Amino acid sequence: MTAAIDLKAYLATRLALIDGALDKSLAVAAGVPCQLLEGMRYSVFAGGKRIRPVLMMAACEAVGGAPERVLPAACALELIHTYSLIHDDLPAMDDDDFRRGRPTNHRVYGEAGAILAGDALLTEAFFLLSGAETFPGTSAETILQVIQIIAQAAGAQGMVGGQVVDMASEGQQIDLATLESIHNRKTGALILAALQTGVLLGGGNQQALTAVLDYGRAAGLAFQVADDILDVVGDQALLGKDVGSDQARGKVTYPSLLGLEGARLRAQELMEEAMAALQPLGAAAGPLREIARYIVDRSY
Ligand code: IPE
Ligand code: IPE
Ligand code: MG
Ligand code: MG
Ligand code: MG
Repeated sequence: MTAAIDLKAYLATRLALIDGALDKSLAVAAGVPCQLLEGMRYSVFAGGKRIRPVLMMAACEAVGGAPERVLPAACALELIHTYSLIHDDLPAMDDDDFRRGRPTNHRVYGEAGAILAGDALLTEAFFLLSGAETFPGTSAETILQVIQIIAQAAGAQGMVGGQVVDMASEGQQIDLATLESIHNRKTGALILAALQTGVLLGGGNQQALTAVLDYGRAAGLAFQVADDILDVVGDQALLGKDVGSDQARGKVTYPSLLGLEGARLRAQELMEEAMAALQPLGAAAGPLREIARYIVDRSY
Protein backbone atom coordinates (compact mmCIF):
# COMPACT_ATOMS: atom_id res chain seq x y z
CA MET A 1 0.00 0.00 0.00
CA THR A 2 1.39 3.40 -0.92
CA ALA A 3 0.69 6.60 1.02
CA ALA A 4 -1.90 8.89 -0.58
CA ILE A 5 -0.55 12.10 -2.06
CA ASP A 6 -2.03 15.51 -1.28
CA LEU A 7 -4.06 16.10 -4.44
CA LYS A 8 -4.76 19.75 -3.65
CA ALA A 9 -1.07 20.61 -3.36
CA TYR A 10 -0.26 18.51 -6.44
CA LEU A 11 -2.92 20.27 -8.50
CA ALA A 12 -1.85 23.74 -7.36
CA THR A 13 1.67 23.32 -8.70
CA ARG A 14 0.64 21.56 -11.93
CA LEU A 15 -2.12 24.08 -12.64
CA ALA A 16 0.32 26.97 -12.22
CA LEU A 17 2.59 25.41 -14.86
CA ILE A 18 -0.30 24.79 -17.25
CA ASP A 19 -1.87 28.22 -16.85
CA GLY A 20 1.48 29.97 -17.30
CA ALA A 21 2.11 28.09 -20.55
CA LEU A 22 -1.44 28.65 -21.79
CA ASP A 23 -1.09 32.36 -21.12
CA LYS A 24 2.06 32.48 -23.23
CA SER A 25 0.48 30.51 -26.04
CA LEU A 26 -2.46 32.92 -26.24
CA ALA A 27 -0.49 36.18 -26.29
CA VAL A 28 -1.15 39.17 -28.49
CA ALA A 29 0.33 38.47 -31.95
CA ALA A 30 0.52 40.40 -35.19
CA GLY A 31 -2.52 39.82 -37.36
CA VAL A 32 -4.71 38.29 -34.65
CA PRO A 33 -7.87 40.40 -34.26
CA CYS A 34 -8.24 41.61 -30.62
CA GLN A 35 -11.82 40.47 -30.52
CA LEU A 36 -10.85 36.93 -31.55
CA LEU A 37 -8.06 36.69 -29.00
CA GLU A 38 -10.38 38.05 -26.33
CA GLY A 39 -12.99 35.40 -27.16
CA MET A 40 -10.40 32.63 -27.09
CA ARG A 41 -8.98 33.78 -23.75
CA TYR A 42 -12.48 34.33 -22.33
CA SER A 43 -13.18 30.59 -22.39
CA VAL A 44 -9.66 29.27 -21.75
CA PHE A 45 -9.18 31.39 -18.61
CA ALA A 46 -12.61 30.88 -17.11
CA GLY A 47 -11.54 28.39 -14.46
CA GLY A 48 -11.66 24.94 -16.09
CA LYS A 49 -10.44 22.04 -13.98
CA ARG A 50 -7.59 21.29 -16.46
CA ILE A 51 -8.14 17.59 -15.86
CA ARG A 52 -6.75 16.50 -19.24
CA PRO A 53 -3.43 18.38 -19.00
CA VAL A 54 -3.10 17.29 -15.38
CA LEU A 55 -3.68 13.66 -16.39
CA MET A 56 -1.02 14.00 -19.07
CA MET A 57 1.46 15.28 -16.51
CA ALA A 58 0.51 12.61 -13.99
CA ALA A 59 0.99 9.87 -16.62
CA CYS A 60 4.39 11.32 -17.55
CA GLU A 61 5.37 11.42 -13.87
CA ALA A 62 4.10 7.87 -13.32
CA VAL A 63 6.82 6.70 -15.71
CA GLY A 64 9.50 8.94 -14.22
CA GLY A 65 9.26 11.95 -16.57
CA ALA A 66 9.25 15.58 -15.39
CA PRO A 67 5.85 17.28 -15.76
CA GLU A 68 7.37 20.14 -17.79
CA ARG A 69 8.18 17.67 -20.56
CA VAL A 70 4.57 17.50 -21.67
CA LEU A 71 3.67 21.19 -21.34
CA PRO A 72 3.10 22.08 -25.02
CA ALA A 73 1.04 18.92 -25.57
CA ALA A 74 -0.86 19.48 -22.32
CA CYS A 75 -1.74 23.02 -23.41
CA ALA A 76 -2.73 21.80 -26.86
CA LEU A 77 -5.14 19.31 -25.33
CA GLU A 78 -6.71 21.98 -23.11
CA LEU A 79 -7.16 24.26 -26.13
CA ILE A 80 -8.87 21.43 -28.04
CA HIS A 81 -11.05 20.63 -25.04
CA THR A 82 -12.01 24.31 -24.62
CA TYR A 83 -12.95 24.57 -28.30
CA SER A 84 -15.11 21.46 -27.89
CA LEU A 85 -16.94 23.07 -24.96
CA ILE A 86 -17.54 26.34 -26.85
CA HIS A 87 -19.06 24.41 -29.75
CA ASP A 88 -20.92 21.98 -27.45
CA ASP A 89 -22.74 24.94 -25.87
CA LEU A 90 -23.88 26.50 -29.16
CA PRO A 91 -27.62 26.79 -29.84
CA ALA A 92 -27.22 24.18 -32.60
CA MET A 93 -25.81 21.72 -30.07
CA ASP A 94 -26.63 21.70 -26.33
CA ASP A 95 -27.79 25.32 -26.31
CA ASP A 96 -26.40 26.19 -22.89
CA ASP A 97 -26.02 29.58 -21.26
CA PHE A 98 -23.38 29.00 -18.59
CA ARG A 99 -19.94 27.46 -18.71
CA ARG A 100 -17.04 27.63 -16.31
CA GLY A 101 -18.96 30.07 -14.14
CA ARG A 102 -19.65 32.59 -16.89
CA PRO A 103 -22.11 33.14 -19.71
CA THR A 104 -21.21 30.80 -22.59
CA ASN A 105 -18.93 32.13 -25.31
CA HIS A 106 -21.72 32.63 -27.86
CA ARG A 107 -23.79 34.60 -25.30
CA VAL A 108 -20.98 37.14 -25.13
CA TYR A 109 -19.36 37.07 -28.58
CA GLY A 110 -22.29 35.82 -30.70
CA GLU A 111 -22.54 32.53 -32.56
CA ALA A 112 -20.11 33.45 -35.32
CA GLY A 113 -17.59 34.70 -32.76
CA ALA A 114 -17.91 31.48 -30.74
CA ILE A 115 -17.57 29.21 -33.77
CA LEU A 116 -14.47 31.10 -34.92
CA ALA A 117 -12.89 31.22 -31.44
CA GLY A 118 -13.32 27.44 -31.33
CA ASP A 119 -11.83 27.05 -34.81
CA ALA A 120 -8.85 29.18 -33.81
CA LEU A 121 -8.26 27.25 -30.55
CA LEU A 122 -8.27 23.93 -32.41
CA THR A 123 -5.83 25.23 -35.00
CA GLU A 124 -3.59 26.84 -32.39
CA ALA A 125 -3.38 23.49 -30.61
CA PHE A 126 -1.77 21.86 -33.65
CA PHE A 127 0.53 24.85 -34.12
CA LEU A 128 1.74 24.33 -30.55
CA LEU A 129 2.15 20.59 -31.06
CA SER A 130 4.15 20.97 -34.23
CA GLY A 131 6.73 23.28 -32.64
CA ALA A 132 9.48 20.70 -32.17
CA GLU A 133 11.70 23.25 -30.40
CA THR A 134 9.16 23.41 -27.59
CA PHE A 135 9.73 19.74 -26.68
CA PRO A 136 13.41 19.75 -25.73
CA GLY A 137 14.93 16.31 -25.64
CA THR A 138 12.08 14.61 -27.47
CA SER A 139 12.67 13.10 -30.90
CA ALA A 140 10.77 14.40 -33.94
CA GLU A 141 9.41 10.87 -34.39
CA THR A 142 7.85 10.89 -30.92
CA ILE A 143 6.38 14.36 -31.47
CA LEU A 144 4.82 13.14 -34.72
CA GLN A 145 3.32 10.19 -32.86
CA VAL A 146 1.90 12.53 -30.21
CA ILE A 147 0.32 14.70 -32.91
CA GLN A 148 -1.27 11.65 -34.54
CA ILE A 149 -2.67 10.33 -31.27
CA ILE A 150 -4.20 13.70 -30.39
CA ALA A 151 -5.56 14.30 -33.91
CA GLN A 152 -7.19 10.88 -33.95
CA ALA A 153 -8.70 11.33 -30.50
CA ALA A 154 -10.06 14.80 -31.26
CA GLY A 155 -11.43 14.04 -34.71
CA ALA A 156 -14.01 11.96 -36.52
CA GLN A 157 -13.03 8.68 -34.84
CA GLY A 158 -12.92 10.28 -31.43
CA MET A 159 -14.45 13.36 -29.84
CA VAL A 160 -16.15 14.84 -32.92
CA GLY A 161 -17.54 11.43 -33.90
CA GLY A 162 -18.89 10.99 -30.37
CA GLN A 163 -20.51 14.41 -30.47
CA VAL A 164 -22.20 13.54 -33.79
CA VAL A 165 -23.73 10.35 -32.39
CA ASP A 166 -24.64 12.21 -29.17
CA MET A 167 -26.58 14.79 -31.19
CA ALA A 168 -28.16 12.19 -33.48
CA SER A 169 -29.33 10.23 -30.42
CA GLU A 170 -31.24 13.10 -28.80
CA GLY A 171 -34.81 12.00 -28.20
CA GLN A 172 -33.97 8.38 -29.19
CA GLN A 173 -34.12 5.43 -26.82
CA ILE A 174 -30.55 4.13 -27.15
CA ASP A 175 -29.22 1.21 -25.13
CA LEU A 176 -26.34 1.12 -22.64
CA ALA A 177 -23.81 -0.20 -25.18
CA THR A 178 -24.54 2.69 -27.57
CA LEU A 179 -24.37 5.21 -24.74
CA GLU A 180 -21.05 3.78 -23.59
CA SER A 181 -19.68 4.07 -27.09
CA ILE A 182 -20.81 7.74 -27.28
CA HIS A 183 -19.20 8.51 -23.92
CA ASN A 184 -15.99 6.70 -24.84
CA ARG A 185 -15.66 8.80 -27.95
CA LYS A 186 -16.95 12.22 -26.92
CA THR A 187 -15.09 12.28 -23.59
CA GLY A 188 -12.99 9.14 -23.13
CA ALA A 189 -10.93 9.61 -26.28
CA LEU A 190 -9.28 12.91 -25.24
CA ILE A 191 -8.66 11.61 -21.72
CA LEU A 192 -7.06 8.47 -23.10
CA ALA A 193 -4.95 10.54 -25.50
CA ALA A 194 -3.77 12.69 -22.59
CA LEU A 195 -2.60 9.61 -20.74
CA GLN A 196 -1.08 7.86 -23.74
CA THR A 197 0.92 10.91 -24.80
CA GLY A 198 1.97 11.49 -21.20
CA VAL A 199 3.53 8.01 -21.07
CA LEU A 200 5.09 8.45 -24.50
CA LEU A 201 6.69 11.81 -23.70
CA GLY A 202 7.80 10.51 -20.30
CA GLY A 203 9.63 7.63 -21.98
CA GLY A 204 7.53 4.86 -20.41
CA ASN A 205 7.84 1.23 -21.50
CA GLN A 206 5.16 -1.02 -22.99
CA GLN A 207 4.10 -2.42 -19.62
CA ALA A 208 3.54 1.09 -18.25
CA LEU A 209 1.64 2.09 -21.37
CA THR A 210 -0.70 -0.90 -21.07
CA ALA A 211 -1.35 -0.12 -17.39
CA VAL A 212 -2.03 3.56 -18.05
CA LEU A 213 -4.29 2.81 -21.04
CA ASP A 214 -6.36 0.35 -18.97
CA TYR A 215 -6.60 3.02 -16.28
CA GLY A 216 -7.60 5.62 -18.89
CA ARG A 217 -10.37 3.56 -20.46
CA ALA A 218 -12.04 3.13 -17.08
CA ALA A 219 -11.31 6.64 -15.76
CA GLY A 220 -12.38 8.32 -19.02
CA LEU A 221 -15.77 6.60 -18.97
CA ALA A 222 -16.12 7.26 -15.23
CA PHE A 223 -15.52 10.96 -15.89
CA GLN A 224 -18.50 11.21 -18.25
CA VAL A 225 -20.70 9.04 -16.01
CA ALA A 226 -19.94 11.50 -13.18
CA ASP A 227 -20.69 14.39 -15.56
CA ASP A 228 -24.11 12.84 -16.32
CA ILE A 229 -24.79 12.43 -12.59
CA LEU A 230 -23.80 16.04 -11.90
CA ASP A 231 -26.18 17.23 -14.62
CA VAL A 232 -28.96 15.77 -12.42
CA VAL A 233 -27.76 16.44 -8.87
CA GLY A 234 -25.05 19.08 -9.27
CA ASP A 235 -25.12 22.58 -7.88
CA GLN A 236 -25.06 25.00 -10.80
CA ALA A 237 -23.06 27.61 -8.89
CA LEU A 238 -20.41 25.08 -7.91
CA LEU A 239 -20.32 23.36 -11.30
CA GLY A 240 -20.24 26.64 -13.18
CA LYS A 241 -22.45 25.29 -15.97
CA ASP A 242 -26.11 24.61 -16.59
CA VAL A 243 -27.67 21.62 -14.85
CA GLY A 244 -30.68 19.72 -16.13
CA SER A 245 -29.52 20.27 -19.67
CA ASP A 246 -29.44 16.57 -20.59
CA GLN A 247 -33.04 15.92 -19.65
CA ALA A 248 -34.17 19.12 -21.34
CA ARG A 249 -32.49 17.99 -24.58
CA GLY A 250 -33.86 14.44 -24.37
CA LYS A 251 -30.40 12.88 -23.95
CA VAL A 252 -30.06 9.35 -22.72
CA THR A 253 -27.52 9.36 -19.87
CA TYR A 254 -26.22 6.92 -17.27
CA PRO A 255 -28.72 8.14 -14.63
CA SER A 256 -31.60 7.98 -17.13
CA LEU A 257 -30.72 4.37 -18.05
CA LEU A 258 -29.50 3.00 -14.72
CA GLY A 259 -31.08 5.37 -12.18
CA LEU A 260 -28.95 7.63 -9.99
CA GLU A 261 -27.86 4.83 -7.68
CA GLY A 262 -27.06 2.53 -10.59
CA ALA A 263 -25.00 5.25 -12.25
CA ARG A 264 -23.12 5.91 -9.01
CA LEU A 265 -22.37 2.21 -8.62
CA ARG A 266 -21.12 2.02 -12.20
CA ALA A 267 -18.84 5.02 -11.62
CA GLN A 268 -17.50 3.40 -8.45
CA GLU A 269 -16.90 0.12 -10.27
CA LEU A 270 -15.01 1.95 -13.03
CA MET A 271 -12.90 3.78 -10.44
CA GLU A 272 -11.93 0.46 -8.89
CA GLU A 273 -11.04 -0.91 -12.33
CA ALA A 274 -8.88 2.16 -12.94
CA MET A 275 -7.12 1.71 -9.59
CA ALA A 276 -6.45 -1.96 -10.19
CA ALA A 277 -4.87 -1.21 -13.55
CA LEU A 278 -2.24 0.98 -11.87
CA GLN A 279 -0.90 -1.84 -9.71
CA PRO A 280 2.31 -2.37 -11.73
CA LEU A 281 3.28 1.30 -11.47
CA GLY A 282 3.66 1.52 -7.68
CA ALA A 283 4.10 4.81 -5.81
CA ALA A 284 4.86 6.88 -8.92
CA ALA A 285 1.21 6.51 -9.93
CA GLY A 286 0.01 8.25 -6.73
CA PRO A 287 -1.36 11.31 -8.55
CA LEU A 288 -3.21 9.11 -11.09
CA ARG A 289 -4.81 7.23 -8.19
CA GLU A 290 -5.99 10.39 -6.44
CA ILE A 291 -7.32 11.82 -9.69
CA ALA A 292 -9.40 8.66 -10.23
CA ARG A 293 -10.89 9.04 -6.77
CA TYR A 294 -11.60 12.70 -7.44
CA ILE A 295 -13.27 11.89 -10.79
CA VAL A 296 -16.03 9.89 -9.16
CA ASP A 297 -16.36 11.80 -5.87
CA ARG A 298 -16.31 15.27 -7.37
CA SER A 299 -19.05 17.84 -6.93
CA TYR A 300 -17.73 20.02 -9.79
C1 IPE B 1 -16.85 18.94 -19.43
O1 IPE B 1 -15.49 18.73 -19.18
C2 IPE B 1 -17.26 18.20 -20.65
C3 IPE B 1 -17.04 16.77 -20.57
C4 IPE B 1 -16.33 16.16 -21.46
C5 IPE B 1 -17.63 15.98 -19.52
P1 IPE B 1 -14.81 19.19 -17.83
O2 IPE B 1 -15.69 18.76 -16.68
O3 IPE B 1 -13.41 18.74 -17.82
O4 IPE B 1 -14.91 20.77 -17.93
P2 IPE B 1 -13.88 21.90 -17.45
O5 IPE B 1 -12.72 21.84 -18.35
O6 IPE B 1 -13.52 21.66 -16.02
O7 IPE B 1 -14.66 23.18 -17.62
C1 IPE C 1 -19.63 17.13 -23.92
O1 IPE C 1 -20.47 16.35 -23.17
C2 IPE C 1 -18.42 16.47 -24.36
C3 IPE C 1 -17.66 17.39 -25.21
C4 IPE C 1 -17.67 18.69 -25.12
C5 IPE C 1 -16.85 16.81 -26.21
P1 IPE C 1 -21.57 17.18 -22.40
O2 IPE C 1 -22.44 17.93 -23.34
O3 IPE C 1 -22.23 16.28 -21.42
O4 IPE C 1 -20.66 18.22 -21.60
P2 IPE C 1 -21.24 19.36 -20.65
O5 IPE C 1 -22.08 18.67 -19.61
O6 IPE C 1 -22.01 20.30 -21.51
O7 IPE C 1 -20.00 19.96 -20.04
MG1 MG D 1 -23.01 17.78 -25.31
MG1 MG E 1 -23.09 19.99 -23.13
MG1 MG F 1 -22.80 16.84 -19.46
